[in-house]
Amino acid sequence: MKYVRMPIEIESPEEQGYDTIRFNLSESSMRDRKLSDLGLGFDDLLLMYGVHRGAPGLRALIAKQANVAEADVLTTAGAAGALFIIATTLLDKGDHLVVVRPNYATNIETPRAIGCDIAYVDLKFEEGFRLDIDRLEALIRTNTKLISVTTPHNPTGVALKEAHLKRLIAVAEKRGVHLLVDETYREMSFVPKLPVAASLSPHAISVASMSKSYGIPGIRVGWIVNRDPKLMERFLAAKEQIGICGSIVDEHIAEAALKQSAGWLGSVERTNREALATVEAWLGKEPRLEWVRPEGGCVCFPRIKAGAGIDTDRFYRALQTDHATAVGPGHWFEQDRRFMRIGFGWPLPAELSGGLAAISASLDGARR
Ligand SMILES: Cc1ncc(COP(=O)(O)O)c(C=O)c1O
Repeated sequence: MKYVRMPIEIESPEEQGYDTIRFNLSESSMRDRKLSDLGLGFDDLLLMYGVHRGAPGLRALIAKQANVAEADVLTTAGAAGALFIIATTLLDKGDHLVVVRPNYATNIETPRAIGCDIAYVDLKFEEGFRLDIDRLEALIRTNTKLISVTTPHNPTGVALKEAHLKRLIAVAEKRGVHLLVDETYREMSFVPKLPVAASLSPHAISVASMSKSYGIPGIRVGWIVNRDPKLMERFLAAKEQIGICGSIVDEHIAEAALKQSAGWLGSVERTNREALATVEAWLGKEPRLEWVRPEGGCVCFPRIKAGAGIDTDRFYRALQTDHATAVGPGHWFEQDRRFMRIGFGWPLPAELSGGLAAISASLDGARR
């Protein structure tokens, strides 16, 4: 494995220091919650090794939501841990995979660290960031091991339609390839929510976590769902070699949060829709930017128009230095820096409005 730190991690607010940021529009989750919000009293929790596949109560809740059996669920250290287990289990140096770009960085970086042969399906702004399944299929070779997609997508917020997901599954089945569907944003959707991909076929591997819609990324709880018992055994072997089991404390908190999911997700949806409306209203009055309206998640990926006469480097300098405002610049996603990811779910309303105004002011100051 050739590990290289990713810009999105090096430049993340937790690494830079939250106290250096006034308006934080760089997050990709909903607002973080306090432990006390969950009303847990767990002084008596025995801090033993946990069940290796994950706490049975937690797995039962995940399985119910996913419409699969408990045996089809393996908990992991966040969705990031799930993606790492899947990549290192399925892929060896030189193996071929097809992956969507841009993407949550790990979906690309771990296969790269393994030394895989990667074919990219590039999403294009001009095509509304739509995944072209014909183009994807044309990249599959006889030795392709994995297709990797994310929906709702980070950083664009674009979501697959159910017919497209089913077509991808049919392609994976026909070509005998595993299909990884990163569904970390599944619970946050402005369009009808898709079924969990893994519930539709043993070829599909679904990944999600407690980090984004539940706003508790500080507990590192995610999961893999898959209906192929032999494959799940290999994923379990990887988990055991990395860390034996999950954290008892984290899984206890995750279970409590999932039990409260109905009320919590309802309020998340209301907050998220209001925040999206704020961004949409601002963009309506900001002629130097263009965007594709997101269909899910809590981020969008607008860009500075090519003819807007803006010096991109000066823009980012002003944003950071004069306005202490953080967004996710395009290079976090291997894209032109004219793109920026704006996270609208995490900031409170005043912070969101302040941050959007700071972007406009920085554009004013960066005219060529
Ligand atoms: C699409 C996607 N997958 C996975 C992750 C990892 O999330 P976590 O490990 O916190 O569950 C992220 C985080 O930004 C993400 O956006």
